[in-house]
Amino acid sequence: MKSISGFSKLSKRKKLRWVVENFFRDPELVTRELMSFWHQNDQQQRIFDDFSENTLSNYYMPFGVAPNFIINDKEYCIPMVIEESSVVAAASSAGKFWAKRGGFKAEIIGTTKIGQVHFVWKGDSTKLKAIFQELKPILRSDTDHITKNMRKRGGGILKIDLLDMTHLEADYYQIKTEFETCDSMGANFINSVLEEFGRIFKNFLQNHPDLEGTEKEASIIMAILSNYTPDCLVRASVKCKIEDLGTFDGGKTDAATFAYKFDKAVKIANLDPHRATTHNKGIFNGIDAVILATANDFRAIEACGHTYAARDGQYRSLSKTKIEDGIFEFWLDIPMAVGTVGGLTSLHPLAKRSLEMLGNPKAEELMSIIATVGLAQNFAAVKSLVTVGIQKGHMKMHLMNILNHMEASEKEIKAAIQHFKDRVVSFTAVREFLNSWRTGKIAVVPAHND
Ligand code: MEV
Repeated sequence: MKSISGFSKLSKRKKLRWVVENFFRDPELVTRELMSFWHQNDQQQRIFDDFSENTLSNYYMPFGVAPNFIINDKEYCIPMVIEESSVVAAASSAGKFWAKRGGFKAEIIGTTKIGQVHFVWKGDSTKLKAIFQELKPILRSDTDHITKNMRKRGGGILKIDLLDMTHLEADYYQIKTEFETCDSMGANFINSVLEEFGRIFKNFLQNHPDLEGTEKEASIIMAILSNYTPDCLVRASVKCKIEDLGTFDGGKTDAATFAYKFDKAVKIANLDPHRATTHNKGIFNGIDAVILATANDFRAIEACGHTYAARDGQYRSLSKTKIEDGIFEFWLDIPMAVGTVGGLTSLHPLAKRSLEMLGNPKAEELMSIIATVGLAQNFAAVKSLVTVGIQKGHMKMHLMNILNHMEASEKEIKAAIQHFKDRVVSFTAVREFLNSWRTGKIAVVPAHND
């Protein structure tokens, strides 16, 4: 096992040298390759280096756009960062589809965020509950210096509660706090307040005249925001007359059949966790792509979304459908704790441009945009699944990845696209095709339906 001490203290070039010399067969080649992804501008590169630790290079991801989105009657071109083929194309097509049918609607249901101080206290819980009423205003006033700016922006601490959890774990309590963090995601703000709460609380117990002995001691286990924010919630929706859905798969599927199958597909995702997971994964294809493009925290959004999907004890579809009186309705309720200020939102040069592309939205507008892309992505995936199947479109894009991987020339790419128009794409089939093409065994191969 190769190990090193003091790695983090090395310069970036020395770190790179140590890694390539110890883990690669051709250190020179790998050094050149990793350095080729460095930003040409040193100052810009330093910004990327400082986001994280022990950075050697930059890991590129495609930055694309899905135009033609109409959300609450406003037009958007949506920035998306994602490595999976077909996702941006699918979002774009769903955007265009619904733009012709009145667009998407989005509404904010709530913006409340949550933080917890988890602590252990060995004493009579009724006594604790009684003195907690005295503590509450002190928690607020003694964190004034931290909350001042947020309060100026209209946010701050909303509610402080003591939760008795001793029925679940011996001596365990929580100070559960609700926050409004306006346009910032608020993690640093919330965590700073909570850690201060912990100190204030300990001090309060120490000095309280009605307490004695162990009652004066509390052990703060941890103070941290909760990424589960069911009350920071947005709904994105679409609806139209069933007949306005049009036909699908070159006329093979009519509107009523489509609506029926689509509705069933969503209901299946609601009742079967295996399908629900894939269904929701499709939603997060769109959500994560915009979260990444705007430098928000995709792990937090994912973790929260999945907990929300399981809120009644079973993991279910995040989206829902309704078919009533000839109207097709499709919507998605999803918690969305995002920020448009703070964090990397203005530090990452492309995140800054993404937000500019979206018209520099406030957090609530960004919540609406992101939820809408999730709904659009879900619509596109389920539409394909209940009509032509997912592979047709997917494989077309997959073909390009395989061809690029095999370093196909422009001419070979053209020939391959023609060849695989109506043939099954696989790694082996593409390799065989290229070999035949390269050895002159085939010139132009007609597709089966030509
Ligand atoms: C693929 O990335 C996402 C889908 O599997 C989603 C779904 O099945 O709904 C197509």
